Amino acid sequence: MKNTLVMIAMLCSNALMLQAQQLTLRLDKAETEVSPMLYGLMTEEINYSYEGGLYTQLVPNPSFTDMFNPRGGRRGNRQDPNAPRLTVRPDRWQLTDTLKVRVRQNRQGGINNAITTSLVVDFEQAGLGIVSEGYWGFPIRKSTTFKGALYVKLPEARNNQDTPPVGLKSLTIALKSADGSTTYAETKVSGFTNEWKRLEYRLTTSDNQAVTKDARLFIIAGEAGSIELTRVTLYAPSFKDRKNGLRIDLMEMMAEMRPKFLRFPGGNYLEGNNFANRFDWKQTIGNPDERPGHQSPWGYRSSDGLGLLEFLQWAEDVGAEPVVGVFAGYVLNGDHLDGEYVKPFIQDALDEIEYVMGDAKTTKWGAVRARDGHPEPFPLHYVEIGNEDFFDRSGSYPNRFKMFYEAIKARYPQLQIISTVGYNALKSKDIPAPVVDVIDEHYYRNAFDMYRNAFQYDRYDRSGPKIFCGEWATREGSPTTNMNAALGDAAWMSCMERNSDICVMSCYAPLFVNVEPGAMQWQSDLIGYDVLESYGSPSYWAQVMFSKFLGNRIVPVEAVDIPKQKLDRNDEANAVFYTATMDAKTGRIYLKMVNTVGDAQKLNIKLEGVKKVKSKAKKIELKSARPEDTNSIDNPRNIVPQESSQKVGKQFPVTLAPYSITVLVVE
Ligand code: AHR
Repeated sequence: MKNTLVMIAMLCSNALMLQAQQLTLRLDKAETEVSPMLYGLMTEEINYSYEGGLYTQLVPNPSFTDMFNPRGGRRGNRQDPNAPRLTVRPDRWQLTDTLKVRVRQNRQGGINNAITTSLVVDFEQAGLGIVSEGYWGFPIRKSTTFKGALYVKLPEARNNQDTPPVGLKSLTIALKSADGSTTYAETKVSGFTNEWKRLEYRLTTSDNQAVTKDARLFIIAGEAGSIELTRVTLYAPSFKDRKNGLRIDLMEMMAEMRPKFLRFPGGNYLEGNNFANRFDWKQTIGNPDERPGHQSPWGYRSSDGLGLLEFLQWAEDVGAEPVVGVFAGYVLNGDHLDGEYVKPFIQDALDEIEYVMGDAKTTKWGAVRARDGHPEPFPLHYVEIGNEDFFDRSGSYPNRFKMFYEAIKARYPQLQIISTVGYNALKSKDIPAPVVDVIDEHYYRNAFDMYRNAFQYDRYDRSGPKIFCGEWATREGSPTTNMNAALGDAAWMSCMERNSDICVMSCYAPLFVNVEPGAMQWQSDLIGYDVLESYGSPSYWAQVMFSKFLGNRIVPVEAVDIPKQKLDRNDEANAVFYTATMDAKTGRIYLKMVNTVGDAQKLNIKLEGVKKVKSKAKKIELKSARPEDTNSIDNPRNIVPQESSQKVGKQFPVTLAPYSITVLVVE
């Protein structure tokens, strides 16, 4: 009798357990398509993303455009006669001897209309040099060939001189340790004349060279004398061996994310701080030696070596299509142009679209693209008008948007046009509400705010425009995000995925950060690196999991008794978040679950509308003991996805580990 009672009690409690905390996957109702463009990438020049990051040209300030002026005097105590004397020198360059090497920027010394500066150097004796700091060093590994070039000529006599200075005969170019004591690779150039000459050089490391970033690029005089230099470049090997290409490890990391699109060029980088420093795409194409470059809004100069064609090839090389943001007449200092004055920018946008997708034989800008090396048009379906124009307090955006929209649609009716301002805000102005295909929404939140809003799109009106979540991130951790952020991200991605009928595209921002001290302007980034190594944050791995394990139909999920967590005294949210998709062809089911709290969570999973499944599912888990745990340049794989298997059936229990993101792939 006692045993029977125990049995009944156990059965009851099992039944209760089965009833409680349950996700029912309605595979019989999996009809809505997952957006084929759901997961993409967003990029801009911030945190040394391109210069000092993805772009393989390694010499900063290659044309000596920026000078470092210590404003005279001596560093520190001006009374101290032993304090080192400070010299005016090019920014990010050093002199091996501040007395015996004298430098002068020549502002009329350029090689063409774009590169208008050069450096005149007088060396008092052989063996002295100027030294490029690189972007916090150079990446030295064994058997590596770096390809470089520089423009050189013998300097002319200055106004107060009768004869020109004695010209140098040769220069040694070398990658050496910062103190100059170890040489990793070197070569010699010579044959200088009174005319500018572009000299190419190569530096190859030996096959037993140890890995180090303690490296500088030295340009050393062969004898006493003077020389004029500009556009000193050095390229590391690139992904797919592209000329003027992109860094291999970072491209591989992005390809691993299986992005469907690349949104570029920003972000604030599109707008610039002022009109002169907007992203002026026509200045970013053609020979990199003929691109003037400009100041990025994040406080440093871009050479524009990574320009429009390089963005397009980047997208192509990681299997994505471009989503092009066109400059729309508003800059970050608040200036804007409207009406007649905005028309030249509309023409620029039309030309840009033609450069991207125009036929190489029959269109002007398509032919320019072919000249630049890419005869095939790029696929293009989405064009965005400006960036974050909700900051434009003048109220000019609805009209500017309308003008761009109409001009672009008249020529390219097939394109989807993205507004950077929400539909209601557009409607509230005095002009008739312009038609909008897609709205770009940006969300930078902490983890709790992500949990609070993780059902936001479930409530969106399905009759309005589609949503592009064009910048989003859970901002926890620095320089890259931690596990807490990854949990917030996964909760948010589960919202976007479940609602990808309306939220058709999404991309995290910012994508990159150079982790060297002083390189970051925006903390909590996705991928970190120095000149040598790179790593993915837990947020990066969460995105790899979400993007890699994705079906093409949304599976409605009925949730019962999902455990809650307190966010503050008056507020609570789910502790567990979820989304499911299936592949209509293979029948494969992808169930994603996020446990955002420190206790394991037991859930019962029920598959409704499927006859049979294999008894073992693949389980991919990202987890950590503490939410603040993270990856870093020194500990790059502390938190990475782990694969195992899980017993499954038409109904089965799962246990979600504390602070974890779990994907089950059920066949
Ligand atoms: O991604 C960082 C910045 O955030 C972007 O440049 C801008 O669009 C947003 O305000």
